[in-house]
Amino acid sequence: MTGARFGVLAAVAAVVAAGCQTERRLGGAGDPARGAQVAALAGGCGCHTIADGPVGAGGKKIPTPFGTFYSTNITGDRDTGIGTWSDDEIDAALRRGVLPDGAIESPVMPYYRYAGMSDVDASDLIAWLRTLKPVARENRPHEVSLPFPRLAFRAWRLLFAPSVETPRVAPKDGIERGRYLSDHVAICGDCHTPRDRFGAPDDDMHLAGIEDGPLGETVPNITSDPKTGIGKWDESDIVSVLEMGMLPDMDNVQGLMGDVVDGVAGGPGYGNANPEDLKAIAAYIRTVPPIVHEIE
Ligand code: HEC
Repeated sequence: MTGARFGVLAAVAAVVAAGCQTERRLGGAGDPARGAQVAALAGGCGCHTIADGPVGAGGKKIPTPFGTFYSTNITGDRDTGIGTWSDDEIDAALRRGVLPDGAIESPVMPYYRYAGMSDVDASDLIAWLRTLKPVARENRPHEVSLPFPRLAFRAWRLLFAPSVETPRVAPKDGIERGRYLSDHVAICGDCHTPRDRFGAPDDDMHLAGIEDGPLGETVPNITSDPKTGIGKWDESDIVSVLEMGMLPDMDNVQGLMGDVVDGVAGGPGYGNANPEDLKAIAAYIRTVPPIVHEIE
């Protein structure tokens, strides 16, 4: 083969490889039992469940600066849920923000955080989703206050979605596992990290808390700053919050944190996760650099 032809082939291969990276496939059916563990670490995908349940049937009202959104039905109902979607279609929605009709999801769905979830964890999580009881509940249309929402969400993804590596398998243990779980499965930063005026996460303020956070809740600073964060807590204090929702002063966490710990309407939450994983998360949180940010 001549050098020139080889060069052309290599270029084509590079383009195909790049294409494969964005058009990533799961590569195999998942394990629903392992998926239940992933679901627990993902707070039971609790935004998709209202307090009265049923699990995964959607309908939770999520007010944002860009309009009011309603979480969608992710049960296997064929008409109103995702029963007719393939695993790869569910994966595209979960980790790339792409819906089966090609539209891009609004950033209210944190696909850009799940983008770093491993292929194995994503396929197991999808296998678990398929075990949810199918519920016929129509999705409620979002009330978006942007002129061209389809374009806006596409542009948002292009401009603001952080680019992250998608591992084939997750780190097995230690701080690396804790970082992986908190950033890409339990998505602590989805609530604990402030956003800029475009709704993009402000990475310089990673986990530094927000006064007016999701659903208007006050979200504490969980960086290791001893005064304004949780720098004085030890690892077991953090594990107690994740496992039982119990704070060092014996008070209980409320609101959204209560939901992700306990699960919503009988669904799983952090409290159902493997204790070793909760320890890994706590060990990682202790390493988060201190940011002085007083939350009232
Ligand atoms: C869905 C939103 C949400 C997610 C996801 C979330 N949190 Fe929270 N978290 C909150 C809110 C809101 C509070 C305040 C609860 C209260 O005031 O009772 C809180 C409180 C806490 C506290 C208590 C801090 C203090 O000073 O009282 C800790 C620790 C904590 N979260 C850690 C985490 C970790 C670690 C993760 C990821 C594994 C996480 N949170 C994921 C919303 C969230």
